[in-house]
Amino acid sequence: MKKIKIVIIGYGNVGRGVQKAIAKNQDMELVAIASRSVERVKAEVKDVPVVDVREIAKWQAELQADVAILCGGSKSDLDKQTPEIIKYIPTIDSFDNHSCLPAYYAKIDEAAKKANRPAIISLGWDPGIFSLERVLANAYLVGARAYGFYGLGPKGGLSMGHSDAIRTIKGVKDARQYTHAITEAIDKVRNGENPEFSAGDMHSRECFVVLEDGANPAEIEAQIKSMPGYFAPYKTTVNFVTQEELNEKFKGFPHDGCVVSSSTTGDGNGALIEYRCQWGSNPEATAQVLTAYARALKKFVDEGKCGAFTILDIPASYVSPLSKEDLLAKMM
Ligand SMILES: NC(=O)c1ccc[n+]([C@@H]2O[C@H](COP(=O)([O-])OP(=O)(O)OC[C@H]3O[C@@H](n4cnc5c(N)ncnc54)[C@H](OP(=O)(O)O)[C@@H]3O)[C@@H](O)[C@H]2O)c1
Repeated sequence: MKKIKIVIIGYGNVGRGVQKAIAKNQDMELVAIASRSVERVKAEVKDVPVVDVREIAKWQAELQADVAILCGGSKSDLDKQTPEIIKYIPTIDSFDNHSCLPAYYAKIDEAAKKANRPAIISLGWDPGIFSLERVLANAYLVGARAYGFYGLGPKGGLSMGHSDAIRTIKGVKDARQYTHAITEAIDKVRNGENPEFSAGDMHSRECFVVLEDGANPAEIEAQIKSMPGYFAPYKTTVNFVTQEELNEKFKGFPHDGCVVSSSTTGDGNGALIEYRCQWGSNPEATAQVLTAYARALKKFVDEGKCGAFTILDIPASYVSPLSKEDLLAKMM
């Protein structure tokens, strides 16, 4: 079997998760990790070639990777990196800023068509598998809205994208952002009220921030709370902690969430669809989703497709390692 040759672009939490996920998929092989900080990654990774992402023309000519899985941050990496990488390799990314998604799609679609390659954008669990569940629930339960809730337990769930966004603020050394679902809002949906929510009615945001020496806490709190898309629409609390407190109190990257949709069928029989995910490690779970779609991207390449695609455009059979016969016999 010819394996799908994958290069990881950017080595952080999701990048590490993709490395582990590729090792679980027998039809894939990791040919290199490309980073802006080669020495940092080389110190951690011994068994895979580590290359400078800026030298892509040189190493891609040699490696001939089939797929690049981009693991940079949504806030400031992906909209620069993806249009550059797609000039050389078909891409998969996990861009997760929902409010900027249409503009990001347009930008990558244009770059991918120019390069005559396919790009799958905004994969992961949300956007990603929850997007698919929202669309299906909305189609099956006619007229019902589909709602996504995150951070269902008392501790809430760690949002990687929001933590990453806080860390881009000058004066912030480290940060974690916990999302809390507002339980009354979930109850309204389950009751079939089909409510009209604004983002702030469904979730609140709790930030734990470590400052650089000399940074001004009031200024940083104001910058976080006014950040468009990420925090401005929400009730946000900001707590300043030491690095030791952050490390001690918040271990790992747990997260969870559900998509809920409620309506009626026929002459008024109640109908409820719920789809729930619970992750011990959000970046590893995100990475497993990204990696599974390398299979679909390779099929798109073989079919000569180009432009940007989302999870909504991709058949489940393209993602599965199973043959059509196995899918029919075991999964239908
Ligand atoms: N769609 C979804 O469901 C979903 C879910 C979770 C996350 N995400 C997305 O995934 C993105 C990446 O998350 P992440 O947790 O992997 O972010 P991260 O750990 O901060 O890594 C982001 C990038 O920063 C660089 N980096 C990492 N550690 C570094 C260090 N110690 N020093 C210097 N540079 C470092 C790496 O690039 P270089 O190797 O080039 O330096 C890496 O690619 C998030 O921004 C979010 O948008 C999406």
